Amino acid sequence: MVEKLKRGNKIHIFVCVNQREDTSKSFCSKHISQEQYSELKMWNRTNHFPKVLLTKTGCLGVCNPGGGVVAVYPSGNFYKGIENIDEIKKIIEDELKDIK
Ligand code: FES
Repeated sequence: MVEKLKRGNKIHIFVCVNQREDTSKSFCSKHISQEQYSELKMWNRTNHFPKVLLTKTGCLGVCNPGGGVVAVYPSGNFYKGIENIDEIKKIIEDELKDIK
């Protein structure tokens, strides 16, 4: 049975950590590795969980040779060109300002 859940005043960040066998193509784990994602998850757990949920994901369809990609809901904002997790932390802090 499908159940609808109201999540209320929270944000959900999807962090692309996709990897491709063909390393000549763009993919996000060149910029944001699984290890960096784990570090970000620990930071979030300490600072913003459960208000902010983080999920690692595959390709979000906006691959960028200049950096990683994250998607944020409910804002629907996508960010590309991310070079390190400090930039994702800043995105989280900025997105939180919009829902407070
Ligand atoms: S590989 Fe990350 S958006 Fe495509």
